[in-house]
Amino acid sequence: MGRDITVPSVRLAAAAKIAAALLYDGEDLSDLTAIDVGCDHAKLAIYLVQSGICKHVTASDINDGPVEKARENVSRRTLMGKPLSDYIDVVLADGLSGLENRNANRIFILGMGGEVISGILDRATFIKKQDNKGKIKFILQPMTSEDKLRKYLLDNGYNILDEEMVLDKERVYAVMSVCFDGEKREYTPAELLLGKSNIEKGGELFVRQLERRIRITNKAISERKTADLDCTELEELLCEMMNIKERE
Ligand SMILES: C[S@@+](CC[C@H](N)C(=O)[O-])C[C@H]1O[C@@H](n2cnc3c(N)ncnc32)[C@H](O)[C@@H]1O
Repeated sequence: MGRDITVPSVRLAAAAKIAAALLYDGEDLSDLTAIDVGCDHAKLAIYLVQSGICKHVTASDINDGPVEKARENVSRRTLMGKPLSDYIDVVLADGLSGLENRNANRIFILGMGGEVISGILDRATFIKKQDNKGKIKFILQPMTSEDKLRKYLLDNGYNILDEEMVLDKERVYAVMSVCFDGEKREYTPAELLLGKSNIEKGGELFVRQLERRIRITNKAISERKTADLDCTELEELLCEMMNIKERE
């Protein structure tokens, strides 16, 4: 039987594709259960179950408006003869609180500021339980403060497994695939700002971001020089980015 697929944005489809890939050898991909934190209208949750990537999704949001809209969108659809609400629970929740027993092995936190995403992870202590170590893939997409989110992740025992740069309606988004293993790691300033795997992979979108960051850093340096302020850290960052540019 064919499935009706509600196609999401390029950004959400990229996040879903990342979720569909194995987290560890031997993982059972027919058993993917997800939480989408900040689900808004539940477009991602609907796509995840319709496309067969996830067998169940908890779509949560902190605000009543999105929860109502998400419930309405879910209630209008069916999947393989069953109401879509058999596959998607829509719940009102702040971050991951109250969702610790959902046994999710994929957790999406997309479309929020990097510091809001860090705060949601920080309050979810169940992530650090021994049983959950290495078993949950987090798919994160910050709208701002990417560098602060990367720093939080590395300082708090998360491994940034991979990153994708996604172009959607003329804007470039970083979509990260992350897992908690308890080990602390360090990145250089340019790796924090641009993403280590983005630097390793390079490509057209990466060069576009790199050039943008170089322009912003140059401007910040000249502003600080005019104000007679120390520029050492920014100059080191600029130097690292110029070296990366030379290799591209
Ligand atoms: C800009 S929308 C992004 C929606 C969707 N995740 C996406 O990427 O297209 C942000 C959503 O996150 C919700 N949100 C913000 N803070 C939250 C929190 N602490 N817990 C759950 N949802 C939250 C907002 O109500 C809003 O619906």
